[in-house]
Amino acid sequence: MMEWKNELSALLNIDYPIIQAPMLGITTPEMVAAVAEKGGLGSLPVGGLSPDRTRELIRKTKSLTAKPFAVNLFTNGVPDYSRADAEAMQDFLEAFSKENQLGFERLSLDALRFYSYKEQIDILIAEAIPVVSFTFGIPDAESMTALKQKGIVLVGTATSVQEAVLVEKAGADAVVAQGIEAGGHRGSFLDDEPLPMVGTFVLVPEIVAHVKIPVIAAGGIRGGSTIRAAFQLGAKAVQIGTAFIASQESLAIASYKTALPKAQVTDSALTRAFSGRWARGIRNQFMDTVEASGLKIPPYPIQNSITAGLRAKAQQADRKEFTNMWAGQASAGAENRSSADIFLQLVAQAEGL
Ligand SMILES: Cc1cc2nc3c(=O)[nH]c(=O)nc-3n(C[C@H](O)[C@H](O)[C@H](O)COP(=O)(O)O)c2cc1C
Repeated sequence: MMEWKNELSALLNIDYPIIQAPMLGITTPEMVAAVAEKGGLGSLPVGGLSPDRTRELIRKTKSLTAKPFAVNLFTNGVPDYSRADAEAMQDFLEAFSKENQLGFERLSLDALRFYSYKEQIDILIAEAIPVVSFTFGIPDAESMTALKQKGIVLVGTATSVQEAVLVEKAGADAVVAQGIEAGGHRGSFLDDEPLPMVGTFVLVPEIVAHVKIPVIAAGGIRGGSTIRAAFQLGAKAVQIGTAFIASQESLAIASYKTALPKAQVTDSALTRAFSGRWARGIRNQFMDTVEASGLKIPPYPIQNSITAGLRAKAQQADRKEFTNMWAGQASAGAENRSSADIFLQLVAQAEGL
């Protein structure tokens, strides 16, 4: 029998320390509320969204549940980038789009607009959000202090021991150890080390040994045995993304939902082709073509903006070969069922029922 209650479930005020991962572009308020209602922690992704959209999504979620949920931020800045590389990428995508009837719209680089997480902090405080998680870095000291003073529980993301130690030092209450199996973007943020590529099985106990705050295991968790394994390794909670992508409450397009459970464990790859940041998704024509082009891919969030219109059109037409299909290595268990059912099945499996 699983012992679910621990220091982290108490801190997060939930029955089961199972966190539905924030998944920008996939997670809806309905998904968050469904998991919250069943006693887990739903996470609402608002990384890079405008303040107005952030408030709207939070209020929508609150209208669906009175239970606690987390809101997830991206803490990246906007780096300098080569305009020549960005224009060359746009030339390439214009031609690629003509060949495949996709409808690429060239962007004026001067008109690009990015929102910082700093514009979202006041909203999180005003809306009395109980848990704020973050990835791609650590909020600045001023933001951390402002959130902490309101008693908001802070959860950082780390892909290496060095990152976990920094997350703890910055004052986070818990840290997600994101293994290389995980779907979506890498949370990695130390530019002076090579991209950490450590599997969950190695990363979790390593981070547990180096920090005092509770560790949340993420990456490759797909059912009862992997949940139990994560707790055995010293994790106090698990964060699960891929298993919810094909759910009824997900924004994933139909062909992506169908492809997920069929994908072999070797069908996903890390790529910068879609966004300029390393992320794991199922290989497709867009990823392969951009990578084979030999072009220098502009950094995040520039490449993300350059490809956004093309991806939106591909999604409208349900053409999975031309948009990101983020997925972890363990995508075989993804099912097109309600998020509540998926969550309850994870609980039951972990309990060995
Ligand atoms: C489609 C997708 C989108 C994601 N978006 C986010 C995000 O917005 N913020 C975040 O912190 N993590 C994001 N992640 C990573 C998850 O938090 C988590 O690390 C990962 O899903 C765990 O591995 P798994 O997919 O094998 O369960 C995303 C993952 C996926 C699959």
